[in-house]
Amino acid sequence: MKYGHFDDENREYVITNPKTPYPWINYLGNEDFFSLTSNTGGGYTFYKDAKFRRLTRYRYNNVPVDNGGKYFYIKDGDTVWSPSWKPAQTDLDSYECRHGMSYTKFKGAKNGIVTEVLQFIPLGFWGEIQQVTVKNTSSETKKIKLFSFIEWCLWNAEDDMTNYQRNLNTGEVEVEDSVLYHKTEFKERRNHYAFYSVNQDIDGFDTDRESFMGMYNGFDAPEAVVNGQPTNSFAHGWSPVASHYIEVELQPGEEKQFVFMLGYVEVEEDNKWESKAVINKKPAKEMIAKYDSVEKVQVAFDELKEYWDQLLGKIQVDSGDDKLDRMVNIWNQYQCMVTFNMSRSASFFESGIGRGMGFRDSNQDLIGFVHQIPERARERIIDIASTQFEDGSCYHQYQPLTKKGNAAVGGDFNDDPLWLILSTTEYIKETGDFSLLDELVPFDNDISKAKPHFDHLTASFYHVVNNLGPHNLPLIGRADWNDCLNLNCFSNDPNESFQTTGNKKDGKAESLMIAGLFVLYGKEYVNLCLQIGKQEEAHKAQGHIDQMIAAVKEHGWDGDWYLRAYDYYGNKLGSQENEEGKIFIESQGWCSMAEIGMEEGMVEKSLNAVKEHLDCEYGIVLNSPAFSKYYIEYGEISTYPAGYKENGGIFCHNNPWIMIGETILGRGDQAYEYYTKIAPSFLEDISELHKVEPYVYCQMIAGKEAVKPGEAKNSWLSGTASWNFYTITQYILGVKPSYEGLLINPCIPQAWDGFKIKRIFRGVTYHIEVQNPAHVSKGVKEMFVNGKKIAGNIVPVLSKDKAHSVLVVLG
Ligand code: GLC
Ligand code: GLC
Repeated sequence: MKYGHFDDENREYVITNPKTPYPWINYLGNEDFFSLTSNTGGGYTFYKDAKFRRLTRYRYNNVPVDNGGKYFYIKDGDTVWSPSWKPAQTDLDSYECRHGMSYTKFKGAKNGIVTEVLQFIPLGFWGEIQQVTVKNTSSETKKIKLFSFIEWCLWNAEDDMTNYQRNLNTGEVEVEDSVLYHKTEFKERRNHYAFYSVNQDIDGFDTDRESFMGMYNGFDAPEAVVNGQPTNSFAHGWSPVASHYIEVELQPGEEKQFVFMLGYVEVEEDNKWESKAVINKKPAKEMIAKYDSVEKVQVAFDELKEYWDQLLGKIQVDSGDDKLDRMVNIWNQYQCMVTFNMSRSASFFESGIGRGMGFRDSNQDLIGFVHQIPERARERIIDIASTQFEDGSCYHQYQPLTKKGNAAVGGDFNDDPLWLILSTTEYIKETGDFSLLDELVPFDNDISKAKPHFDHLTASFYHVVNNLGPHNLPLIGRADWNDCLNLNCFSNDPNESFQTTGNKKDGKAESLMIAGLFVLYGKEYVNLCLQIGKQEEAHKAQGHIDQMIAAVKEHGWDGDWYLRAYDYYGNKLGSQENEEGKIFIESQGWCSMAEIGMEEGMVEKSLNAVKEHLDCEYGIVLNSPAFSKYYIEYGEISTYPAGYKENGGIFCHNNPWIMIGETILGRGDQAYEYYTKIAPSFLEDISELHKVEPYVYCQMIAGKEAVKPGEAKNSWLSGTASWNFYTITQYILGVKPSYEGLLINPCIPQAWDGFKIKRIFRGVTYHIEVQNPAHVSKGVKEMFVNGKKIAGNIVPVLSKDKAHSVLVVLG
């Protein structure tokens, strides 16, 4: 069953039934200032850091699940309704929610009134615009009452939901004209406040929650709205809110528009006050004046559209399949921007208070984002590298506001350092900017320990070399990419977290996944050394890689697939010998991508085993059989019920590793089949089962051993976005940036006649057409650039003054 449809022309997903199986959300904002908005108006706003600068309150774990947001109520006679259906939940004559590129539009109609709400954050602006249009489509004059509503969060979102003995006393507001100011804690250590305004006179307001709601009413029926009368309340402590009240009279056919703004202001320490206890409102008034008319709003909205046209225009495919095209051209790219901005902090599954920027996560997010805004990718790489230690290890996370490593979480996830080689080499291939390598980057955020960025890559590489176990395979540390494979942890205390508990000191568990990662990104490191004339270092590093390959072949092969690990006791995991967890996806993916044992047929056998043991109707599960009981020597992985999360769930993030492996073998049909199993646009028809948004990837779909296979969770903030984008564009469609130019090497289903793709690379536009007359999957037979045949399959970097055409014939 579907709950809406794609509107590709406008790059929107249009939800026509508000009762989606789970809230289907969108993100507003592109830098610094952000909002989350669900299809029924739920969500919240924050500045930079969802934990420390939360502007509006949101209750996770609520009943019903999505309660609280940026709400509008219309009281028309005795009927109270909302254009986003919630919170009033009155049946509407029509409802539509359009989630677009950094904006959301609601359109609701009831009894001859049509109300539209457009929400977005102008570029470079610290405020959310809500443009409300009310139109009378009936033949009588209408007098309606319009109420806005938001609930302030007392800045620190975690403290806000725990420390009531203090917080119920601190709330402070000011009201001037049509602007409701939130100045809690401004008089002490904060130099920031927030405001909620509307660009016309109001007929009343409320700033105290209980005065507006009534003690016993819910968001669906606030007392003030039901009474049709605000109380003009001032909050002193308790819960400050902001609600405007406007009486609107509309002749038949008449329409009126209002511009609301939710803004955030920072002032200088010595310029905080206008007069005693009165905050300096000048910066707020300037912000309000910037967008105080629908004309000004339109200009900002057009700029936003232009911004996305330009970003998305860098890669555009025409494959003939709408489902694929809308993923590549619109939604997957959009999600890559969101994951770049949010990391794993704020979604409807991440509460915004727990997790900062992950070292491994943010590096991986970059591979789907670097083509969009390379300058921001460069800055991010430096931020991440600054949290590394001199021995190559690193903090697992850092806080976006301070950019400092998070000591409470610590380090020792031994895959972490290697991802820095991935992000750096992808950045240089995309941009040709080798100067990043010379940039002085601190270790442990200590500028006195700064070294050229290249040295960070060297430290990453040798961190593995210096931490090998009994089989000469990489020590896993606290865990590798799989956070839940805690092989040295041995936790028997339900009150401790697997993620932060230290290991047994002499932990000798080894990871085959890190081995594959090391061989693949080790080769990238060697290649980079050769690019910049470090022959000797390249030679030395290659020696270590060769030893690792030998170790995997000798100790890491189980006969039909790669082992996953050696545990604390030196026992195998991911082997025929195991009763459960006989085979795992990660080591098959990484050792295949690294082509370890290709000549001996290992890669082919491994991927055949994935097909046989891990593949199912909804994607490839992480391990099989899933663990049915707790194994203290394996840790968190065995805590999950079978078929969920890291224990036999379809962890969408790692499915592309297998797709890439398949493309290396040239099996384009298999690679594409795996792609379509998890790509959300292909799942739209089973939304009822899938539950989460059909326009973005989720982290996990319940696997074949789960109670409800196919049911998904944790949409939006997942490395799945970047890995799938990377795989479809660079390995299946096969247009891959390299140091020398654009490498073209598609691996597609044999049935395809070909496809077209536009790629802007280092500022140059290429129109690429791939033809497949012989119906093969892989193999470039000949290639023409601007009509002239070229040798090989790399399009060199050409002049910027015109667009270039590239014809690729497979065969
Ligand atoms: C989560 C984490 C990521 C980890 C993965 C597998 O998505 O964000 O860092 O690699 O789970 O455990
Ligand atoms: C849990 C999740 C895993 C996540 C980790 C970090 O273990 O299963 O996916 O990466 O927490 O918070």
